[in-house]
Amino acid sequence: MKKVYAVIGDPIAHSMSPAMQNDAFRSEKLDAEYLAFHVKPEGLGDAVKGLKALGVCGFNITLPHKESVIPFLDEVDELARAIGAVNTVINKDGRLIGYNTDGIGYIKALEEELTGELKTKRTLIIGAGGAARAIYFTLVKEGVKQVDITNRTKERAVNLISECPYDNHSKAFTLDEAEQRIAEYDLIIQTTSIGMSPNIDVSPMDVTNIKSSAFVSDIIYNPLKTKILIDAEQKGVKIQNGVGMFAYQGAIAFQIWTGIMPDTSRMKQIVLTKLGG
Ligand code: ATR
Repeated sequence: MKKVYAVIGDPIAHSMSPAMQNDAFRSEKLDAEYLAFHVKPEGLGDAVKGLKALGVCGFNITLPHKESVIPFLDEVDELARAIGAVNTVINKDGRLIGYNTDGIGYIKALEEELTGELKTKRTLIIGAGGAARAIYFTLVKEGVKQVDITNRTKERAVNLISECPYDNHSKAFTLDEAEQRIAEYDLIIQTTSIGMSPNIDVSPMDVTNIKSSAFVSDIIYNPLKTKILIDAEQKGVKIQNGVGMFAYQGAIAFQIWTGIMPDTSRMKQIVLTKLGG
C-alpha cells in the first residue's frame, strides 16, 4: 500500500516541502505521497490524532505549530525537547515520536560550504527567536566551542543562553555591542527576519569591520542574497543563504522516516526552481 506523509501548518499553500519530498520519494523509487494540510491552531490536536488514526507514516510541522504540537505526541527526542519545538514526526507502530531537524539541518548545510572545522569557529548568532534557539542549542550540543548571541532585545539572548541545557561559555550582546566586536568572529549566523522580502534593504548589523576570512550565513532564502550577505560579500567574505538549511532539514526528516539520506543537491535545486518560479 502507498505510504502517506504530510506537512501541517497555517498558512501552508506556499510550502515547498511537498515538491521537495515527493521528488525524493520518486527518485528513491518509494511508493509514497507527501501531502500538505492547512491546519488552524484550534484544530491541531484533532489533526494529529487523525494523522495517527489514518496511519500516516510521518509528517512535518511548520509555523505556528512547532511548539504547540508537543503535548499531542507520544515521545519527543532529547534535542527537540530542549529546543521546545518539533518539526518532524515519525509514526512508529502507532506511536508518534517528535524530532527537530532544523538545527542539525542547518549544521549539515553549513559544513558543506565552510572551510575548516566548525567546532573551532568563533561564532555569533544574530537573533534569539525560535530559529536561533534550534541552531544555538544544536551548535553547542555538537561541541562548537564559542557561540555568542546578539539580539535587539538583549534580555532574550541572556535567557536563551541560560536555558541552554548543554555546557557553554556563551555571551549575550546588544546589536551595537556585537557590531563593535564583529572582527572577533569566524562565523556569523543571521536568524532574524530582517532583510526578508519585501523589506530587502535592511540589515541587522553593519559588517564593515568583519575579517575577510569570516563566513556569513543567513537562514533567509527569499531573497537569495539578503543585504547582510551582499554587504559581507563586498568585503570578500564567503556567504551562504537559507536554501541549504531548508533542503537539509527536509532531507534529515526523510532519513528519519525511510532510513535513506536523499540527494540534497536535487532537493536544493527544487527549492531554487520554486523560488525562481
Ligand atoms: P523566529 O521563530 O522566526 O526566530 P521570533 O521568535 O519571532 O521568530 O524571533 C524573531 C527574531 O528576529 C528575534 O530575535 C527578534 O528580536 P527581538 O527579540 O528583539 O524581538 C528579531 N527581530 C525581528 N524584527 C526585528 C527588527 N526589526 N530589528 C531587530 N530585530 C528584529
